[in-house]
Amino acid sequence: MTKIENPFFVVSYHSPAYFCDREEETKRASSALINGRNLTLLSARRIGKTGLIRNVFYHLQKKSGWRTLYIDLMPTANLNDFIKLLSTAVVEQEWRQSKNYMKKIAILLSGLKAKLSFDPTTGAPEIGVEYKTRQETEKSLSALFYYLSKQNVKYAVAFDEFQQIIYYPEKNIEALLRSHIQRLNNVNFIFSGSNKHLLISMFSDYGRPFYQSSDFLFLEKINAATYCRFIREKFAEHGKSIEEELVKEALEYYRIHTFYVQYFFNKLFENSGKSATKEHVEYVHRLILEEREAIYYTYRNLLTSYQFLLLKAIACEDGISQPTASDFIAKYSLKQGSSVNRALAALIDREMVYEEGGTFHVYDVFFSKWLAKSL
Ligand SMILES: Nc1ncnc2c1ncn2[C@@H]1O[C@H](COP(=O)(O)OP(=O)(O)OP(=O)(O)O)[C@@H](O)[C@H]1O
Ligand SMILES: [Mg+2]
Repeated sequence: MTKIENPFFVVSYHSPAYFCDREEETKRASSALINGRNLTLLSARRIGKTGLIRNVFYHLQKKSGWRTLYIDLMPTANLNDFIKLLSTAVVEQEWRQSKNYMKKIAILLSGLKAKLSFDPTTGAPEIGVEYKTRQETEKSLSALFYYLSKQNVKYAVAFDEFQQIIYYPEKNIEALLRSHIQRLNNVNFIFSGSNKHLLISMFSDYGRPFYQSSDFLFLEKINAATYCRFIREKFAEHGKSIEEELVKEALEYYRIHTFYVQYFFNKLFENSGKSATKEHVEYVHRLILEEREAIYYTYRNLLTSYQFLLLKAIACEDGISQPTASDFIAKYSLKQGSSVNRALAALIDREMVYEEGGTFHVYDVFFSKWLAKSL
């Protein structure tokens, strides 16, 4: 195993040792899948949905011998892209895990009417699909699900950013996918995404194809005391130390929002000696904002001056529960409540602001800190 230089991962999942808590959620998700139920996983952005999926998959593979497929649907724009990503994931897995992989891949490709090539640099298999008619596309989709159904193994398939299928130009995609999914006995699914509104409506509106077809799991923030213990343990395991108080303060400062916490402690770990001090902490707070400053200036150009004024006001308050209250409006010279409501709706729509437990926050925690400090 390669040596871990920094125990705070910021881009991907490593293993349970570097993954904080989520024990209950991992149990619930695994149990749903093992018992033949699908799961819809929801949270605000960057709380840890993908990490949780990876953690659940890690255990399902190790303990139960399941095969797992993780598909990020964010870059897909149509059903062709969907088939391409899912089939590539299946082929990659056969290639890595099956003894008779050439034979299996050939069967799948013939059903899909697809071409296989290999990336010249990485050597990874790539699937080329191009269908002229909807009929051809649907036939291939059937072939792909039929292939999965015929494997003598249990599968867990995660479709991350599942709400993306709503934007495909083809008609009745939800009904088409649902009809395939419900016929599979050996495959269970995790549907995940950050657009709560769209996903909840997909799975709970009477009359929509996925109505009541899965359990819901709303992923909350990690418990502060548990996260604090985890962080101090990781420092200690790597021969470093940090006072409990400093960790608690930083967790609160970054709203216990997983990505921002991981990123901060990754940098603090890098920029502190044997013992992390208050000076190191303050240096890293500043460093993060300095590195991002150029990007934050460009955000300014994406908004009207009034929207920017409101965003800055929310950041200065570190979240606001009553944005139309007269004292808030007066303090930041925001004119009247109706303008605030309009600008707030636009900021929420652009994912610049989100509401959590009745309070509106600037979504990107680092940006929020920068806004509160900038002139
Ligand atoms: N329980 C955890 N312990 C440690 N690190 C975690 C944990 N959960 C997530 N992370 C880390 O936090 C970051 C954000 O998590 P992740 O990408 O899973 O969030 P997400 O909710 O899927 O975000 P997005 O909405 O942007 O897709 C990642 O770098 C991941 O490695
Ligand atoms: Mg994700």
